[in-house]
Amino acid sequence: MGRFLNKLLKIDTIYTFNDLIILPGKTYVEPKEVNLRSKASKRYTINLPFISSPMDTVTGSELAIALAREGGLGILHRNCSVDEQVSMAKKVKRAESTIIRDVIVIKPEATVSEAVEIMETYDIHGLPVVEDGDRLVGIVTWRDVRYSDRNVTVSDVMTPKNRLVVANTEVSIDEAKRLMQRHRVEKLPIVDDKWVLKGLITIKDLELRGKYPMASRDEEGRLLVGAAISPYDIERAKKLDRYVDILVIDVAHFHNENVIKATKKIVNNVSADVIAGNLGTKEGVLETLTRIEDIAGLRVGIGSGSICTTGVVTKVASPTLYATIQASEALEELGLHGTIPVIADGGIKNTGDIALALASGASSVMIGNLFAGTKESPGRLIAIHGKYYKEYYGMGSARAKSKRADLDRYSKPSKEVDEGVEGWVPYRGAVKDLIRELIGGLQASMGYVGARDIYELWDKARFGYILPNGYNEIHPHDIIIPKGSNY
Ligand code: XMP
Repeated sequence: MGRFLNKLLKIDTIYTFNDLIILPGKTYVEPKEVNLRSKASKRYTINLPFISSPMDTVTGSELAIALAREGGLGILHRNCSVDEQVSMAKKVKRAESTIIRDVIVIKPEATVSEAVEIMETYDIHGLPVVEDGDRLVGIVTWRDVRYSDRNVTVSDVMTPKNRLVVANTEVSIDEAKRLMQRHRVEKLPIVDDKWVLKGLITIKDLELRGKYPMASRDEEGRLLVGAAISPYDIERAKKLDRYVDILVIDVAHFHNENVIKATKKIVNNVSADVIAGNLGTKEGVLETLTRIEDIAGLRVGIGSGSICTTGVVTKVASPTLYATIQASEALEELGLHGTIPVIADGGIKNTGDIALALASGASSVMIGNLFAGTKESPGRLIAIHGKYYKEYYGMGSARAKSKRADLDRYSKPSKEVDEGVEGWVPYRGAVKDLIRELIGGLQASMGYVGARDIYELWDKARFGYILPNGYNEIHPHDIIIPKGSNY
């Protein structure tokens, strides 16, 4: 047989979200009991398996904060300068923390005017006052400076050392809270036995911790955050590495010799977990994992995104469901499934798709379209015929490329074509409301299967292949439903 006929005979069947259903199973699980905790990367656990796409109409600091507070994770886009991306990361990390480590401080000889300026710039209401080598000598708060002469020095208005309430580095959260309540202070500096400032606990942070019990946090109580990078931009990677937990190599096709080599260098130079992507085949995953040690996660799926035209322009694609199965198989073969998590990226339209992606072995899904519609996404809000929409465009679209900082992902000089479209998605309100819907649908799905958590879903979910007539039957039919409904 010739090599061309062989291509036809060895053809793979590519299943997509629309082709498969999950069969019901005996259950002892009520939807509310289903636990959605999962892994975002080798080291980081998230409470909900939802990750937002690194796109400039999806993930800036506002969405990353809101999503991490609910239990998911945001990956900051890179269609901006390094400084802008670093500043987004800092914002997320500063949003809340149990103990602030990189405390903003002031010197006693600074003027009140300088103190006010710092407080306004960073939107904070208190500054520890330090001299020679971070030794704490007082604290100055907004109350101290508000009505003071702007030309006097901080040492004239601060609460001095002998009246300060402080704690040592061993203090527990409960003790810190009790101390602050007893002394009616809102900020508690943490010092060592030589009074060197080691951190700061604020009542606001402790209250936020209670307000968002599901939040995805690092070991210091700060919100988890990731950032997208080009494999060729090691300087950006190093700068972001100081602030983010996860770095996502953001290329359309990871299974590329140059990308693999460049990623290897990045992995050796950063301490964050590095996620490789996008991948679409078992061979691609096997080569990635054997060539690069310490890959902490895989982002898979090529061409399924709602704004993608890669599959049309090039006829090359690995739809997300297929890519997920391929990656899961590769991981099983290496004995690493469950250790190195898979992120199923692109084409998620509803909770059923999320259930299918997870049942195929993914630990989480990456979503652009649905999150682009939320209040917290950076895209513009517009009204069309009395309805609200937010703008959404592919990172390979002409629009994104004209903003271009991601020259390498879809538009290397050799890539002259656009691989994405631009448009609008329906406005969906606050991200927390969308998350409620996603949780509800996913828990219901796992309840039908009898899966208490994602690990049980991997074992228990069985698939059915649904023919086009069946696909129509499981959608609402023979009824007139309002235009614009999700179905
Ligand atoms: P959804 O379906 O959630 O997918 O909108 C988001 C994912 O789509 C990918 N992406 C692109 N793919 N051309 C592409 O081929 C593009 O311009 C483009 N922009 C984003 C990306 O993986 C994202 O997470």
